[in-house]
Amino acid sequence: MKETILVGVSEEQSPDPLDAVAWPWRTERLVLRRATLADSDALWEHRSLPAVSEWLGWIPRDRADWDAEYPRRLAINLAIELEGRVVGDLMIRLGDGWGQREVADAARGVEAELGWTLHPDVQGHGYASEAVRAAFDICFGPLGLRRVTAGAFARNEASWRLMERVGMRREAYAVKESLHGTHGWLDGVTYALLAEEWPRPTSPRA
Ligand SMILES: CC(C)(COP(=O)(O)OP(=O)(O)OC[C@H]1O[C@@H](n2cnc3c(N)ncnc32)[C@H](O)[C@@H]1OP(=O)(O)O)[C@@H](O)C(=O)NCCC(=O)NCCS
Repeated sequence: MKETILVGVSEEQSPDPLDAVAWPWRTERLVLRRATLADSDALWEHRSLPAVSEWLGWIPRDRADWDAEYPRRLAINLAIELEGRVVGDLMIRLGDGWGQREVADAARGVEAELGWTLHPDVQGHGYASEAVRAAFDICFGPLGLRRVTAGAFARNEASWRLMERVGMRREAYAVKESLHGTHGWLDGVTYALLAEEWPRPTSPRA
């Protein structure tokens, strides 16, 4: 999830697609809900850790940088709660598929790029897998999308192993395609999943 940097986005321009979902969305162990300004401290707690931010699309320089950028992400960000504690976040960023000019309208807003972070305290228990599967249910269910994608630096093994664990298909391996602030030009991977490959979107738990 190399998290495309948001430039000049103003929510007023377009209806909020994530409003189509009846939040919160409960899974066996987690609660997914729209992220709010009140979640800023909890998310900063783990996103400020180098072990968490190293492979992300933006690495907060400091708290001030985080406070400036975080509010701009609320439109595409979900908070992941475990037993009432915010332990991570999930990005669902809707976008267009590619279509010939004659049919480009039919390809508008039919897919989403996904992204994720989890606090190191709770990694290694399948919570990210559970949250991403719920994201599939949300994208292929109430959002009615046809495809989801996710990208990562190839060196971010934990992330692409997650993509494989939840059944995404590797669609691209790009050599020295992405510029990392510390490591220079690095290889990148892209994974995807189609709605027709996701058995049937599961409704949220009551
Ligand atoms: C990417 C990231 C979310 C993956 O977290 P994770 O904890 O490895 O993923 P999961 O929550 O799915 O847990 C999977 C692990 O839990 C284990 N596990 C335990 N119980 C499990 C269960 N019920 N279901 C699935 N896995 C379970 C699995 O065996 C696996 O262990 P392994 O890694 O030793 O094989 C995490 O590394 C992270 O936040 N990284 C920093 C941010 C980042 O890089 N984001 C992505 C940018 S592209």
